[in-house]
Amino acid sequence: MKVAVKSLTFALLRDLADGRFHSGQQLAEQHAVSRTTVNNALKELAILGLTLFSVRGRGYQLVKPVVWLDVAAVRASLAGAASALNLEVLDSATSSNSLLLQRATQGAPSGTVLAVEWQTAGRGRLGRTWYAALGDSLTFSVLWRFDCGLAGLAGLSLAVGVALIRALRQLGFTEVGLKWPNDVLTEHGKLAGILIEAQGDMMGPSAVVIGIGMNVCLPEKMSTEVTQAVGSLAQISDNLLDRNHILSKILLELAGVLNDFARHGFEPLRAEWERYHRWQNQAVNLLMPDGKTETGIILGVTQNGALRLATEQGERVFHSGEVSVRLVK
Ligand code: BTN
Repeated sequence: MKVAVKSLTFALLRDLADGRFHSGQQLAEQHAVSRTTVNNALKELAILGLTLFSVRGRGYQLVKPVVWLDVAAVRASLAGAASALNLEVLDSATSSNSLLLQRATQGAPSGTVLAVEWQTAGRGRLGRTWYAALGDSLTFSVLWRFDCGLAGLAGLSLAVGVALIRALRQLGFTEVGLKWPNDVLTEHGKLAGILIEAQGDMMGPSAVVIGIGMNVCLPEKMSTEVTQAVGSLAQISDNLLDRNHILSKILLELAGVLNDFARHGFEPLRAEWERYHRWQNQAVNLLMPDGKTETGIILGVTQNGALRLATEQGERVFHSGEVSVRLVK
């Protein structure tokens, strides 16, 4: 768990986001606090991985300005679809998934979207931690309510992967692909992950929180705890990347895919998913929760999103739950 950061620090950061110098005195007056309070709040920028120039007589300037998520900008590019989605941007939360799960139990409507600039306890699949850099990533969750029960949601996480690839390809990132069950990859490594958490019973209705983390840029110093290869959009683009635009494209595609999934399930998306699958027909090792390994060639996925593997004993099917997939080198 990372250390929480004061709301004043975020307020000061928003002042500094223009990349200009701001004097300590001016910042203190603006927020009706002392200069010492400003100094102390700005010391917390190190926790957020940000560096500040401090020049006597001129004040403070961010080495790399932050472009914040902006609800109005996202809504503007969402156009008609905006009415089905209700976006809120928070400076900080433990995890957008955890918070949205809480809100779901309190009756938040389908289409609620929570984007969080700084997660202090971002969560990944299989109990892992999700690391993300402030201003350089997208970390958000979408609540979707389905009439069907949990049993009808098999394949949903793969469907979400299809929505991400559609959005990224439309944005010009034509080389991105998927790895079962739902990692988004570039040639450099993992670009985005999806964490789906559901409430409800087997027969329905159900509420699903879809959490997405995506690396837009990579910080110079990635957390030493990140052991797998990571990729970012900046590595595969020469253009300036606008997180608001990327988020709105993703939300648009996601809303479309979720509506289709609610009516027809994963099956109509299966062939498209297999086209995006980077490890299709590749030899892999599947690591089981009991420590055993299964080796085979990936044939594709079933209509429920389970992995079809050709093994020496014939075709076998694996569900995403606890299985990790590694390419055979
Ligand atoms: C994975 O392990 O691949 C899934 C990563 C999911 C991370 C996102 S970031 C937004 C949302 N909130 C979380 O705590 N996790 C998900």
